[in-house]
This record gives sequence, C-alpha cells and structure tokens, in this order.
Amino acid sequence: MASYDLVVIGTGPGGYVCAIRAAQLGMKVAVVEKNSTLGGTCLNIGCMPSKALLYSSELFEEAGHSFAKMGIKVSAPTLDLPALMNFKQQGIDGNVKGVEFLMKKNKIDVVMGTGRVLGTGKVEVTGADGKAQTLETKNIVIATGSDVAKLKGIEVDEKRIVSSTGALSLDKVPEKMIVVGAGVIGLELGSVWRRLGAEVTVVEFLDRILPGMDGEVAKQFQRMLEKQGMTFKLGAKVTGVDTSGKKLKAQIEPAAGGAAESIEADVILVAIGRVAYTEALGLKEAGVELDERGRVKIDHHFSSNVKGVYAIGDVVAGPMLAHKAEDEGVACAELLAGQAGHVNYDVIPGVVYTTPEVAAVGKTEEELKAAGIAYNVGKFPFTANGRSKVNQTTDGFVKILADAKTDRVLGVHMIGREVGEMIHEACVLMEFGGSAEDLARTCHAHPTRSEAVKEAAFAVAKRAIHM
Ligand code: FAD
Ligand code: NAI
Repeated sequence: MASYDLVVIGTGPGGYVCAIRAAQLGMKVAVVEKNSTLGGTCLNIGCMPSKALLYSSELFEEAGHSFAKMGIKVSAPTLDLPALMNFKQQGIDGNVKGVEFLMKKNKIDVVMGTGRVLGTGKVEVTGADGKAQTLETKNIVIATGSDVAKLKGIEVDEKRIVSSTGALSLDKVPEKMIVVGAGVIGLELGSVWRRLGAEVTVVEFLDRILPGMDGEVAKQFQRMLEKQGMTFKLGAKVTGVDTSGKKLKAQIEPAAGGAAESIEADVILVAIGRVAYTEALGLKEAGVELDERGRVKIDHHFSSNVKGVYAIGDVVAGPMLAHKAEDEGVACAELLAGQAGHVNYDVIPGVVYTTPEVAAVGKTEEELKAAGIAYNVGKFPFTANGRSKVNQTTDGFVKILADAKTDRVLGVHMIGREVGEMIHEACVLMEFGGSAEDLARTCHAHPTRSEAVKEAAFAVAKRAIHM
C-alpha cells in the first residue's frame, strides 16, 4: 500500500498549490483527481476559459467599434466561433499541461480517480475502471471545490438552459440570451455573448447588481453595461421556463410578488452562485462535520473535526475565488510542516474581468457605515488621468476609503480599464497596514493609469493635483 505524508483530494488551484508547497517543504505527496484533467474548475471550466473568451470577444468588439476612431481602417470583423473556441481550448490545454509538469517537477504522485475519506490516515481512490486502491497518509487535505447552484424547477441541459460550463462552449451565438443572476459569472459571460452578437437580458433577484461590491461602483457599472446594450431586470426572479417551443419562454416575476411576464430566449444562463462540492467523499461515514451550507467546517488551521483531515478552497467558508484557495493551500501546507502559515482574509482582492473591469479589496462604504467606523473618501476619475485621456478610455474611477482617525487604508474600489492589474498596489499597502498618505507619497510612473490611485490617495486629504 502506498504511504504518504499528505494526500490532497482535488487538483484545483487550492489542491495543486497545497501539494506543491508541501513537496517543497519535504513531504511525500499525492494528489487525487476524478476529472480526466488536472487543474479543477478554475483551469478547465472557470477562470481560464472565461478569460480567454473575454479577451477574444473584447478584441472582436474593438475591431468593430473602436479601431476606426484611431484611424485604423479594417473591414467589419466576422466571427469564426469554432476558431474562437479552439483558441480557448488551447489556453486550457496549455495551463493543464503546466500543472502536470509542476506535479512531475515536485515529485508529486498523481492518482486519477474519485477519492473517498475512510477516516484518519486513509483515502480510497476508485478509478474510471471501477478498481479501488487505498492510500495511507499522515494527513488528508480536502480540496474538492464547488459546483453550480441549481435553480428550483429549472433543469439545466447545458444546451439551451446552461450553467457557466455550457455558456463557455455554446456552438452558436444566441439571438437572445437571458442571464439569471447579476453576479460575477452572469456579467462576465453575459458580456462575452453580448459582444459576439447576442441580445442579453439579466434578471437579478436583488435591486442591485454585484451584491457585496461597493454600491457606488455597482451603480456606475450597471450604467456602463446598459450603454453597451445589456438590459437589466432587477428585483425580479425567473420562476419557470417553457421549453416546448423553438424559443424558450421564461416566466419572470417581481421578487416581491406580482404580475408575471414572459420573455423569449434562445439560451438561458443560470448563474445564481455555487455550492461546496462534497459528493462521493464519504464525509458522513468518516464523521467529518459540515456547516449549514454544506461546507466542510474547519478551525483557524484548516482542520476539520476529524484528526488529520483538513480542507481548503471553495469547499470551505469564504469567497469562492481561486487566489483565496491558493493562499489557503500554501498556508495549510506550511502549518502541516510546523510553520506559521496564515491567510489575511481582510486583504483578498476581487476582480470582475469585463470592460471596464471592476476591482476591490477591503471594506466597502456600506460595510464601514454598518460597523460605525468613521472614514474619509478619496476619489479620482479616469477622465482626469492623462494616460486615460490620450487613449480615450476614461470610464470609471478609483475610490480609497481611509480610517478618519489613523488614515489607514481600509478599502479600495476601482472601475475602469485594467483595474484588475492596478488593485495589487492597494493589496500590498493594506497588507503592510499602510495609510493613504503613504500611497500619496509613493512615486508613480508617468503616464500610467496607476497615477489615478496616487491621486485618489491625495484626494483623501483633499489635495488631488489634477482635479
Ligand atoms: P476546484 O477548482 O473546484 O477544484 C476541485 C477539484 O476537485 C476538481 O478538479 C474536481 O474534479 C476534484 N474533485 C472533487 N471531488 C473529488 C473527489 N471525490 N475525488 C477526486 N477529485 C475530486 N475565481 C477567480 O479567482 N477568478 C476568476 O476569474 C474566476 N472565474 C471563474 C469563472 C467561472 C465560470 C467559474 C465557474 C468560477 C470562476 N472562479 C474564479 C472561481 C474559481 O474557479 C474557484 O474559486 C476555484 O476553482 C476554487 O478552487 P478549488 O481548488 O477550491 O476547487
Ligand atoms: P454570485 O454569488 O457572484 O452571484 C449570483 C447572483 O445571483 C447574485 O447577484 C444573487 O443575488 C443572484 N440570484 C440568486 N438567486 C437568484 C434567483 N433565483 N433569481 C435571480 N437572481 C438570483 O455567483 P456566480 O456569479 O454564480 O459566481 C459563483 C462564484 O464564482 C462567485 O462566488 C464568484 O466568486 C466566483 N467567480 C469569480 C469570478 C471572478 O473572480 N472574476 C468569475 C466568475 C465566478
């Protein structure tokens, strides 16, 4: 029987990163994966394919709309959807191969099959051929991720009624698309298909988009998406879909109740959240406790209630983000090696990769108000940023929230081009407990969009230079 220091179940960003860090620290490690490829949701049906489609569809739209104003004359672009999907697949394959290489490089055994926790020290793996083997190990890390949340009464067939997985692989641009849920997936994938030619209507239960993000940012973002042609039905829910005709007919009702309306669509994307995935893991039998939302219950050291069984990533509480899963993977491995692994949950950035992008870290104004914390706001629009002006990409702003007494930065919220890259200077600053004044006094290269961050920091003390 094979024997290990650590067996990780699941090879998403949480699992494979945890395995690598443990191997770096001298542990003998195996990973178990039930999918036919490594990399989990993120690499195969999540972050990576969606970003490939966002990139190519953005260029498609730019070639059609933005080139001419810069004096670049091209004939109207035409879409070769199979080629675009092939571009996406090449990206997936490249990243999956990268993880395979890293497993080899770090001498991590890869065991393909479905893992089941038999209790402390034992994992059973059943291969696609039905044959089972048992791995003996000192520690087990559950990194089995999450799955799509289902909408009661609406059956996903991944062809006409799709989850994010089907929406990443449609074989035709739908004429009309309904997106249920104005969260990250709905807005990213809704943007992809709108850019490629679909008429997109987003139906959201709440009276705002992107719950959890800063309210002012969300409001501006909605206006920008509407200008791009997306339609929003807020405070509404889809209660049923008639699939009998050539077109789907969605029944839409006000969230608070009232008269229903019917909207036609070729494709409906259900994107109302994700749920922890613990199927087939045998957790009940092994006595591993779950919380009220079906996530593995852990302490501050990622330990479940069963000795030697740990959990990280989407399968535990916290934001369902790849970088959160990765950081937990590193911290968990370090703790297993007797080091002081730690994740700072106050500084986990969130990015929506649309055009413009939305990026945030730390507290929102709503959260600070609710907590009764006095704060100062520094805001700087990209309309006053030189580089944005010359590129004519002036949509959006940077907003910094700093403690009114100490000037410590508590939250940074941005909307605009490339802000997903720009957020990280705020993360580093906040990780070091920095102040708005620290940021304002840090020299920023000119001309860059990042100067808007420096200016927003100046604006906290009401002394922005270019405004
Ligand atoms: P996962 O990546 O879900 O991996 C879990 C793995 O465990 C899977 O490979 C699964 O097959 C395997 N597994 C499950 N059960 C077993 C078992 N019993 N035995 C063996 N193997 C098992 N996050 C971001 O940060 N940025 C983004 O841009 C982003 N975009 C996204 C876009 C989409 C469309 C979706 C759906 C998600 C996106 N996410 C994004 C979220 C991100 O994918 C997840 O947060 C991340 O993948 C979680 O990592 P994980 O390691 O916890 O689990
Ligand atoms: P989400 O939680 O971001 O958004 C779901 C939305 O659906 C919410 O606005 C919610 O109010 C709404 N909703 C719920 N029930 C509804 C109903 N019955 N009718 C209408 N609206 C309803 O979930 P989403 O977009 O599915 O994404 C899942 C996870 O994947 C997120 O937690 C996110 O963190 C992660 N993700 C991250 C990305 C990124 O970092 N760029 C990209 C895509 C996904």
